[in-house]
Amino acid sequence: MTTGCVILAGGAGKRMKSEKPKVLCEVLKKPMLGWVLDAAEEFGFDKIGVVTGYKNNLTEEYISANYQNISTYYQDEQKGTGDAASRAAELIKSVDTVCVLNGDAPFIDAETLRNALSLHEKSGADVTVISADIATPFGYGRIIRDNGGKFSAIREQKDCSPKEAKITEVNSGAYFFNSKALLEALPRLSNKNAGGEFYLTDCVEIIGNAEAYRCDNAQAVLGANSRRDLFALNEGIRNKILFKLMDEGVSFITLDGIIIGKDVKIGADTLILPNTIITGKTVIGRGCEIGANSRIEDCVIGDNVTLDNVKAVSSTIEDNVKIGPFSQLRPGCTIRKGVKIGDFVEIKNSDIGENTAVAHLTYLGDSDVGRGVNFGCGCVTANYDGVNKHRTEIGSHAFIGCNTNLIAPVKIGENAATGAGSTITKNVPENALAVERTDVKIYENWHGNFERKKK
Ligand code: UD1
Ligand code: CA
Repeated sequence: MTTGCVILAGGAGKRMKSEKPKVLCEVLKKPMLGWVLDAAEEFGFDKIGVVTGYKNNLTEEYISANYQNISTYYQDEQKGTGDAASRAAELIKSVDTVCVLNGDAPFIDAETLRNALSLHEKSGADVTVISADIATPFGYGRIIRDNGGKFSAIREQKDCSPKEAKITEVNSGAYFFNSKALLEALPRLSNKNAGGEFYLTDCVEIIGNAEAYRCDNAQAVLGANSRRDLFALNEGIRNKILFKLMDEGVSFITLDGIIIGKDVKIGADTLILPNTIITGKTVIGRGCEIGANSRIEDCVIGDNVTLDNVKAVSSTIEDNVKIGPFSQLRPGCTIRKGVKIGDFVEIKNSDIGENTAVAHLTYLGDSDVGRGVNFGCGCVTANYDGVNKHRTEIGSHAFIGCNTNLIAPVKIGENAATGAGSTITKNVPENALAVERTDVKIYENWHGNFERKKK
């Protein structure tokens, strides 16, 4: 049996009041569509397609930048979820069973999908809807069951009678269909309903042979149509992720201001301090202390690393490194074992060798630095000449005096030194000292030349 998945992501989501399509609105700094695509990939469908519509170029850009082998289908006008699904007819036709998912319900997971598919197969239903009971069902389609409890239809909020509106079992927007049955039902949908849209949910009544997989995990079915909904999703999942990390041995003294993305991995005995946001595909080792007030995105961090008030993006930090307070790693840095980076240091696209110290007020850009180098306070690599960027190379055990400007491209040899305050425009051979300074001039009795205000 072949399986396919169609994710509906064409809606504008007017209530978000966003410039982007709703499915790109984020939960824990990741677009909702990304969560749904991850679940679909983890499930392992033979084919995955996404129906785009409103600002489709943004949705397609996100997909192609982050996923492979996802086909997209364009819905030119947002006429409802039934119309959206019909745009993916080509994919539906090519598989035996198709799963339709909403791109704005991020917590659907592979396990729930597997359970629903196994009910779908066992029961022989032509459509199986994933449902759950939730405390505040307003806005969701309600699961209508006959007196015997048999699932018969989904009623949208706008079309609910007052009695139906009291039903707490809701449609998650995730379904398995026999592909043939779905393709036959879609052209029969009508938009004569309170919403004036072609509802995919009406396929249940048209197809008839329907089942509902009522899952216990109410969170799995939640969707977001507004910023308030998004906030509720963020709040719910944030703690869930933090508690799961605790179970894995990660420490938190308080959860205040801590946001950790769903794909982040953190080792045991690492302590995360307040106001720390860790996102993307960041991996952090064991025994680290991250925070307070740190922002880490797409970094690979070793063991026993201390990051105090640090921002780091797309960089690698090896074991036993200490950074901070108040320093920044911009993309493309490799900070090797035992490096110490102190306060007000910015490093970009550079490789800093083992045990090197960059203690204070320094900018290193496009630099390759050996091991055991010492930077005095206030060093700058002048890597940009106004048109091009150039690299600076510094050999191991070099000593860069305070306030040195290194005008790239330039090389400082191993074990070489620069005098404090020097602007270095020539390569310095190994073991040499380079000093670029005028002699100090002393003017005796200078005070006698003008009236200096004395307190
Ligand atoms: C839908 C379901 C509802 C369910 C809820 C779960 C229908 C008619 N209703 O309602 O039963 O409880 O999801 O969250 O399906 N979309 C398109 N093109 C369109 C319209 C929508 O691609 O023309 C996409 C949206 O981008 C969204 C998804 O389909 O990702 C769901 O659409 P939305 O309008 O949010 O449906 P709901 O009213 O939430
Ligand atoms: Ca929705």
